[in-house]
Amino acid sequence: MSDTTRLPAWQALIENHRHLKTTTMRELFSTDPQRFKGFSLQLDDLLFDFSKNLITEKTINLLGELADQVGLRKRINALFAGEKINNTEGRAALHTALRNRGNEPVALNGQDVMPQVKRVLQQMGDFSQQVRSGKWRGYNGQQITDVINIGIGGSDLGPLMVTEALKPYACSKLRSHFISNVDASQLCEVLKRLDPETSLFLIASKTFTTQETLTNAHSARSWFLSHAKDEQHIARHFVAISTNRELVTDFGIDPANMFEFWEWVGGRYSLWSAIGLSIVLAIGIEKFEELLEGAHLVDEHFRSTPWAENIPVMMGLLGLWNSNFLGAESQAILPYDQYLHRFPAYLQQADMESNGKRVTMDGEAVNCSTGPIIWGEPGTNGQHAFYQLIHQGTRLIPCDFLAAVKSHNPLGEHQEILLSNFLAQSEALMMGRTADEARQEMCDAELSPEEIERLVAHKVFPGNRPSNSFLYRKLDPKTLGMLIALYEHKIFVQASLWGINPFDQWGVELGKQLAKKILPELAPGAAIGEHDSSTCGLIERIRKFQS
Ligand code: F6P
Repeated sequence: MSDTTRLPAWQALIENHRHLKTTTMRELFSTDPQRFKGFSLQLDDLLFDFSKNLITEKTINLLGELADQVGLRKRINALFAGEKINNTEGRAALHTALRNRGNEPVALNGQDVMPQVKRVLQQMGDFSQQVRSGKWRGYNGQQITDVINIGIGGSDLGPLMVTEALKPYACSKLRSHFISNVDASQLCEVLKRLDPETSLFLIASKTFTTQETLTNAHSARSWFLSHAKDEQHIARHFVAISTNRELVTDFGIDPANMFEFWEWVGGRYSLWSAIGLSIVLAIGIEKFEELLEGAHLVDEHFRSTPWAENIPVMMGLLGLWNSNFLGAESQAILPYDQYLHRFPAYLQQADMESNGKRVTMDGEAVNCSTGPIIWGEPGTNGQHAFYQLIHQGTRLIPCDFLAAVKSHNPLGEHQEILLSNFLAQSEALMMGRTADEARQEMCDAELSPEEIERLVAHKVFPGNRPSNSFLYRKLDPKTLGMLIALYEHKIFVQASLWGINPFDQWGVELGKQLAKKILPELAPGAAIGEHDSSTCGLIERIRKFQS
């Protein structure tokens, strides 16, 4: 794996950046009235405007050359061809097969995976139809009213985010709940509101070994049995979503109530698989298929479009430009769409667990920063919390703004106010406000000359701060599927550019191992093992308070 930072295009980008440092986006906009046209792309109902980045056509060309020089085309082909591109785990990453809506086969080790994908999708549709229609009943003959997904990480964040985002399409007779944290407070607060006779638990875990999920699942099972009294009733109230049939059976769930997926589906890329069962129960299989169709549309776009017109490729390249050349450390995700309120949290796992790596696929140290810190909150709330730092702080924070033109809840002027704020923020970040403009404004407000000079530095906005805008007609299942797939591929593009493997997550292991070692040491009277003095001190304090 060659070092990306030594490639000719990288070196040329350093030069390009040196040149661009002497200009501003404000100037670039004023000298080119066609800038928006040149730096925006359209796919179906979605518009991607990246004109508010510190780039010129030359930058885009050089970024495209970088993509060529790292062999991005070959990487994309390998992804879709089911090659074992997750080289540290010896696995393919074939989440694109889960949303393959065409008729062509998808081969893995010479075998078409599509028949099994379609079979599970059919099983999900049949099961959800039974539950939603009231045919599937609890042990006392009552209809199911509450669906509780127990899972964590990819077995929680994706389904939770989508279920929240597509609430306008949800069945009003079924309430959705998501339990992830091993902190019992989350489970107990939900259980308080549930009736065991009408509750359906989905135990979602790829491995079926995850400590948090199994602890929550066992507690939910005990709670259920304390009411139902008979283990036979579990079959009507517990189903499993997993790759691990043996452990599902050990837990006491009938394999007939198991929804299968496969090792070639990464946890954080799994919402398209049986892990999406909670979504199907909420919105129905037809709407779920629309979500898959949106993602498939992006897959086709991603694998066949030239770089400069390829939205996820451009997203990846611009992110790299902002991180590695402009020095940004994080990336804010700012949906002006309340239904997307869990989108930043979902993308945190998708991006940070994928690209939070410091060695290349060959184990060599990387020579530049890799995955950005992903964070964000919906607008306009964020404006009254952390935007101050984005506008006037010392750090450069590229922002992704997302908004729907049409609201699911048209009410008075709300949507126009929301959209005007969406537009104003990226304009303010790009334009900023000069000292002269700040002075003029204060002069118009009739402040004294002394007061103006005292305040002017505080009223200046540096501007020249990059952002992308995603604008779509309405947040429907297809559009959401498109948005998620765009970000998934953006992550893949960046991993390819940095030469890292986005599909493993060894960084989560050490903490898990240490927690297992510490757990028995918290028991009264147990010996405390060898730790640093801080950890020992904390353990002793816990035990003191426990007693
Ligand atoms: O935290 C690591 C991780 O393995 C994630 O990658 C994964 O999404 C999550 O745990 C849950 O894993 P599982 O679905 O196997 O319970």
